Amino acid sequence: MTKKVLVLPGDGIGPEIVGQATRVLDALIENHGLDVTYESALVGGSSYDAHETPLTDEVLAQAKDADAILLGAVGGPKWEQYDISVRPEKALLKLRSELELFGNLRPAILYKQLADASSLKPELVSDLDVLIVRELTGGIYFGQPRGIRTLENGERQGFNTYVYSESEVERIAHVAFKAAMLRDKRVCSVDKANVLEATELWREVMERVSKEYPEVELTHMYVDNAAMQLVRAPKQFDVMVTGNMFGDILSDCAAMLTGSIGMLPSASLDANGKGMYEPIHGSAPDIAGQNKANPLATILSVSMLLRHSFGEGALADKIDQAVSTVLDQGYRTADIHTEGDTLVSTTEMGDAVLKALA
Ligand code: IPM
Ligand code: MG
Repeated sequence: MTKKVLVLPGDGIGPEIVGQATRVLDALIENHGLDVTYESALVGGSSYDAHETPLTDEVLAQAKDADAILLGAVGGPKWEQYDISVRPEKALLKLRSELELFGNLRPAILYKQLADASSLKPELVSDLDVLIVRELTGGIYFGQPRGIRTLENGERQGFNTYVYSESEVERIAHVAFKAAMLRDKRVCSVDKANVLEATELWREVMERVSKEYPEVELTHMYVDNAAMQLVRAPKQFDVMVTGNMFGDILSDCAAMLTGSIGMLPSASLDANGKGMYEPIHGSAPDIAGQNKANPLATILSVSMLLRHSFGEGALADKIDQAVSTVLDQGYRTADIHTEGDTLVSTTEMGDAVLKALA
């Protein structure tokens, strides 16, 4: 049956990079027998400008109806002045929670062609391949109660709730252990169990679920140490699993180890393999509209989509191979450009990938 993809370009560089990714989709549909249709819709600030909400009910319904979603990026200074309830980021959070996309896979892979782009010494990061599994629909991001209240003395107080139920920890634990089974069979669970009861329970549940995966080695690390270890000796990690907020922070840190956040895709999956796929970088308003942004993370997000939601591993490999080829050929957008490479624009990078695919 024909699969349906909802394409949400979003804000800033979103439309430019997604434009290159849909060219790749088109090529696979036309020349490689991929049975997919897609339609595009507004999300984030661009939706706010048109409809005064970052996510309309109609687009939410389209997202629920689709078999997978490809998203560019949302947000920008233009919308920062608005109330938090209608900011572009709310659209992302609502999509994640309404679609129950609790399993967030954020690979941090160093392409050997880009070893010089890392801020760490090449020997520390060469062949780096860490997978961060971030819980995406719970924790302090969604915990109730939350808000800003006024105390009796008239002082205002902001508050949020860090909460995880056993079932939430269990299901993300399974995602991490299953991923580890396909890799080096090591999971490091990151918590703050020395201070937070919520993560004490997290640790206990991780231990319990690990019994079902006797081949996988489970270790635990406090989040402060994990941040330090990521920049000290990142190759010690295979799969890291953690809660929503720690995962937000650690995944940016891990991404930077690879030298370019412009290269990294991500998947946010529900219990049935339906997912939303997006580059892990943001909307980069400073370079929006200049045909400068790196489209490779979004193109690689299409690869993850085909692999994880559509079972099209061979076509996903084709995309990964094409990206590797263009890097071998020396094509670089500004974010990964060094002396001696060929500096290309967003669309020229798209051209090069299409050529490599053909
Ligand atoms: C991310 C982003 C989002 C998050 C923001 C944009 C809401 O930083 O996907 O990592 O905090 O989850
Ligand atoms: Mg983040």
